[in-house]
Amino acid sequence: MKEVIAILGMQWGDEGKGKIVHAIAKKTNCNLMVRFNGGANAGHTVMLEDGSAMKYNQLPSGCELPGMRSVIANGSIIDPKKLYLEMGGKNIDLILSGDAHIVTQTHINRDENQENERDRRIGTTLTGNGPAYSDKAARHGVQVKGMMATHSDNQYKKALTDCDAEMMNTQKYLRECCISEKGTMILEGAHGWELDIDHGDYPNVTSSSCGVGGAIIGTGIGPDMISKVIGVVKSYSTRVGAGSFPYEMTESEKEHLRENHSETGTVTGRKRRVDWIDVGRVRDACLANGVDSIALTHLDVLQGFDEIKMIDNIGVHILPGFKANISQCTKFSDLPGNVQTFIKCMSNFIVPVEWISVGPKESQLIHVPRIQRERLYQLE
Ligand code: IMP
Ligand code: MG
Repeated sequence: MKEVIAILGMQWGDEGKGKIVHAIAKKTNCNLMVRFNGGANAGHTVMLEDGSAMKYNQLPSGCELPGMRSVIANGSIIDPKKLYLEMGGKNIDLILSGDAHIVTQTHINRDENQENERDRRIGTTLTGNGPAYSDKAARHGVQVKGMMATHSDNQYKKALTDCDAEMMNTQKYLRECCISEKGTMILEGAHGWELDIDHGDYPNVTSSSCGVGGAIIGTGIGPDMISKVIGVVKSYSTRVGAGSFPYEMTESEKEHLRENHSETGTVTGRKRRVDWIDVGRVRDACLANGVDSIALTHLDVLQGFDEIKMIDNIGVHILPGFKANISQCTKFSDLPGNVQTFIKCMSNFIVPVEWISVGPKESQLIHVPRIQRERLYQLE
């Protein structure tokens, strides 16, 4: 049996899923990486040890690791021309679902027109995501298999062919892999729970299902095949595009945070809104997705605040800040006391923190072993 790990964003996307997916893939000897929702609207960044960055939009993070097979499953939408460019001639073992829907230039144009016609813009990524999923639901979309079966040559069919990917019924394939293969399969969520079409603050959402339900529908594997769900949680809140947000940080706090980390969108280059973490909302997100453990990201960005705040349904919790640079810490016990307190609070408010990211590089990741995670529940 395969171990199947779903790695999902618990906020508004940009939690740092790319790094977590890539790192966990290496640590678990993952040989199968699956994208199940969204398309070129996603932006996942992985920073290598030499400081260079790899950016993924449609391909799963980690698709370039040795021995990796990557799948773009039925729940995703595919922009063939952008996919071809993203492959960049690299040797990527890629399988596309025949049932995934195609994004064309018409969808991209419609995305822009629809935004211009709205009284209040959503602030979409203008990648054709909404219109392509609309056509899918309206049953006049074009699937990969339909595109390949057309007799006339066109730019999309040509781009799909040039990608040199295998095209098949990935639902059946993935189910068979679950049963007959060893090793790990990672289901990489795009965007985040707060942008989910059903569970976000509609209409300021994306058009796909970003949670564990989306991972099941978007791949066709049974829910019982998922061994573990990891929720990726950023230590504070960020959002691009319109919609609800905490609005608790003072201007000088925002300024300090932006000095520590530039918060600009990977796909759009827009400045992201920033605020304290809303642990009430993250707790709901983790409950809704059966999250087993948290990967807490961007913790180093909170360096230098006098106080760190956590927003909850009942009010704001104020915790002491930390001054030390934590980016070289490699164990939980290396972290300053105030940082440990922050993590203990998170674990108690939400679910246990298993991974702690203290910098952009893959080596800047602390694993909290199970025994220690259990102790996190014992607040002094
Ligand atoms: P769309 O997905 O392009 O239709 O955009 C809908 C909303 O989701 C907008 O607010 C986008 O900024 C946001 N969004 C879509 N994908 C991502 C992502 O990967 N990270 C963060 N925000 C996203
Ligand atoms: Mg992103």
